[in-house]
Amino acid sequence: EQINKGKYEHYMQKEIHEQPESLTTTMRGRLIRRGSRKAKTVLLGGLKDHLKTIRRSRRIVFVGCGTSYNAALAARPILEELSGIPVTMEIASDLLDRQGPIYREDTAVFVSQSGETADTLQALQYALENGALCVGITNTVGSAIARNTHCGVHINAGAEIGVASTKAYTSQIVVMAMLALAIGDDTISSQSRREAIISGLYDLPDKVRAVLKLDEEMKDLAKLLIAEQSLLVFGRGYNYATALEGALKVKEVALMHSEGILAGEMKHGPLALVDENLPIVVIATRDACFSKQQSVIQQLTARKGRLIVMCSSGDTTSACPSVTCRTIEVPQVEDCLQPVINVVPLQLLAYHLTVLRGHNVDQPRNLAKSVTTQ
Ligand code: G6P
Repeated sequence: EQINKGKYEHYMQKEIHEQPESLTTTMRGRLIRRGSRKAKTVLLGGLKDHLKTIRRSRRIVFVGCGTSYNAALAARPILEELSGIPVTMEIASDLLDRQGPIYREDTAVFVSQSGETADTLQALQYALENGALCVGITNTVGSAIARNTHCGVHINAGAEIGVASTKAYTSQIVVMAMLALAIGDDTISSQSRREAIISGLYDLPDKVRAVLKLDEEMKDLAKLLIAEQSLLVFGRGYNYATALEGALKVKEVALMHSEGILAGEMKHGPLALVDENLPIVVIATRDACFSKQQSVIQQLTARKGRLIVMCSSGDTTSACPSVTCRTIEVPQVEDCLQPVINVVPLQLLAYHLTVLRGHNVDQPRNLAKSVTTQ
């Protein structure tokens, strides 16, 4: 039943709009109410025999390609915060090219929607040979990565048909946030943070429903950008990954050059590109990096940058004092879950740009849903 487009014109459009439901399925049975009425913990059945070993590991290494890599990058800060374990990031092909060091004391987490990506699978073989504990996070029960890892979590997002990954991305982030809660110590000092994240998880489907209402606004923005050659997306902290993923969506389906930029690196090159013509999306929702992003916006404005600022609801004036910049207001959630909300307008923008530019939405030229050869 999931293979039909229903009322939608394209699978990508359908998959963007079904995220409130796919996220609900991802979390079903995994958020546990204990004692009081508030949920205090998570249960990831596929990991329960290995949690002790994961907690004792010296390092957690995330391995993936494309959107799956970006999802892991989005979850990295919360995993570091709650576990206290260093988390490093590996693009599967690069780990293989370098034959980077992987140790017995490592937990290597392989993130893959299909569970069949050749580079990720080969990196898994490499990590197994080096004695690491290998965890799989996939959307495909019985896939090669699910079968060959020691343990894992299925994201249960439902079949994803569009080549550009959308609902799998948000479900992967949610699974990795739950992974962080499962690995992290349930200490008194972390209690209120954990509860806030768990309440945030419960609220997420409704907040995604709310952000999807920006559909028409994103279509209007796409009309403005239809003839552009390039689009930059600036993010940092939790939303560095959102910048990379938003740019990847625009690039892969709308066939427009787009680059995600770490805002902290702005002065080390990207600033040279800024003029009154190049459109720049700046993600500046409320979190610990907000004031730094305000300063980035000021500096871009001083150079006459053509800004589109994504900010939290009601924040247009504080995020963007200049009347010349356009804003996209999004609902606010617990900071570490904000990437799930913030990517949605960018998915919608990429979708509408693609349709308006007349390109194939569900099967972009030269790309495959699952890259099973190297
Ligand atoms: C291809 C797909 C992407 C996907 C990437 C990794 O490039 O087009 O959408 O993110 O492979 O795939 P995986 O199945 O491992 O997540």
